[in-house]
Amino acid sequence: MSFLPKLFRTTTFRLSVLNLVLFATAAAVAIAYIYWNTSGLIARQLDGVIQAEIQGLAEQYRAGGMARLTKTVAERSQTPGESLYLVTDRNGRYIAGNLTSITPGLWNAVGQIEFVYQRRNGAESQNRLALANVFRLRGGYRLIVGRDIEERRAFERVILSAVLWGLGLMGLIGLGGGLLVSRNLLARIDKVTATSQTIMAGDLSERISVTGADDELDRLSESLNAMLDRIEQLMTGLREVSDNIAHDLKTPLNRLRNRVEDALRAKSGAADYRDVLERTIEEADDLIKTFNALLSIARLEAGTTEAARGQIDLAELVSDTVELYEPLAEESGMKLETRLLQKAHISGDRQLLGQALSNLIDNAIKYGRGQGKAQADPIVIDLKKRGDQFEIAVADRGPGIETRDRKRVLERFVRLETSRSRPGSGLGLSLAAAVARLHGGDIKLANNKPGLRVVITLPASGAADAAET
Ligand SMILES: Nc1ncnc2c1ncn2[C@@H]1O[C@H](COP(=O)(O)OP(=O)(O)O)[C@@H](O)[C@H]1O
Ligand SMILES: [Mg+2]
Repeated sequence: MSFLPKLFRTTTFRLSVLNLVLFATAAAVAIAYIYWNTSGLIARQLDGVIQAEIQGLAEQYRAGGMARLTKTVAERSQTPGESLYLVTDRNGRYIAGNLTSITPGLWNAVGQIEFVYQRRNGAESQNRLALANVFRLRGGYRLIVGRDIEERRAFERVILSAVLWGLGLMGLIGLGGGLLVSRNLLARIDKVTATSQTIMAGDLSERISVTGADDELDRLSESLNAMLDRIEQLMTGLREVSDNIAHDLKTPLNRLRNRVEDALRAKSGAADYRDVLERTIEEADDLIKTFNALLSIARLEAGTTEAARGQIDLAELVSDTVELYEPLAEESGMKLETRLLQKAHISGDRQLLGQALSNLIDNAIKYGRGQGKAQADPIVIDLKKRGDQFEIAVADRGPGIETRDRKRVLERFVRLETSRSRPGSGLGLSLAAAVARLHGGDIKLANNKPGLRVVITLPASGAADAAET
């Protein structure tokens, strides 16, 4: 039974009770008003009829005295109806009329009076209510002129019982309905509470059920679920980053520390110390770079960094980046070749897109050298528009990446066995992929036969839309 008080405390229930009270009051006022007017009208009509009756009899009396009055009353009493008459002598003895008996109250009354009389209806007689005027005439005679008002009383009774039943039923249905609706709502809210408790207990995958009624509670549940999705995504991202830090940054840090310790223990000269310190600085720089890249990826994937969106020309961006890498390519005996679309305006983050492209060109220079060739094939960078997408592709003629490894290398810290001898942290492709996804695009690795062809696709229209908002 502890369920009921909880139910009474719900907003829905309170609202339905308030609604009910307001409605019942309005209904009662309306009924009272109608009753008041109707009964007033009936009373006035009744009064009019009695007055007319009296008027008529008074004329007869004036014209023909007691005899004429008695005759008229006797005549009128013959016609069936609601009118009541009685003429008596000074002792109260019946002379004429359809009222058979006279009570002391009636006998002594002056003016208008309400009274109960007996009407014979075949064998049985019934008590009925009447309204009459009592007149004392010359010679002690009395004239009673009235009307049966039992009908009016019946009307009042009907109205009263209608009001009582109506209000009673309304209250019952209103309360019942309120309880039902509140219970339904309470059950759904309890479900939300239960789910949130499960989630708080640590199960982030739990979701609030949506009934499909598409009402405000469903909309609330949907937003809460969307929020939970986002939180779960952020938590997963956070967990991945901390895992990455634990596994992939601890090893180089330990290595760095051990080397410094070894150098100290060896007690060698200043020149050696200097050498070790320089290498330490170099490695610390690499660590910082890796750390920054890792943080960037995490932020990009969580969507917590707002891309500094601006209108940029991809053609210009690509040629600028290529220009930057030309010296490095030459140093490695490679050549960069561009095939660019004239204009490719999108809204995006110039810095991030430049970084992504740099990573691809850097990889092509590092890993994309064809084996056993005197003259290396050029690395081709092209920019195309296909449908409503721009495609930036970096293609080399090196060993490429096997189909089964193509998905894996996009993950953080993944470096293929063959590339371990080259400097790098395995974050370049992950960052490029995160940048592409942030711009609503994607990254694809394909076979360049031979070599690797990495394609970044960026939506042309979608990005422009994003710029407007
Ligand atoms: N152009 C390429 N040709 C062959 N292998 C590549 C190429 N680009 C990337 N890879 C492979 O993918 C791995 C991941 O690349 P990346 O994420 O940029 O890390 P990093 O360059 O630091 O090793 C590289 O270690 C390499 O094994
Ligand atoms: Mg790289």
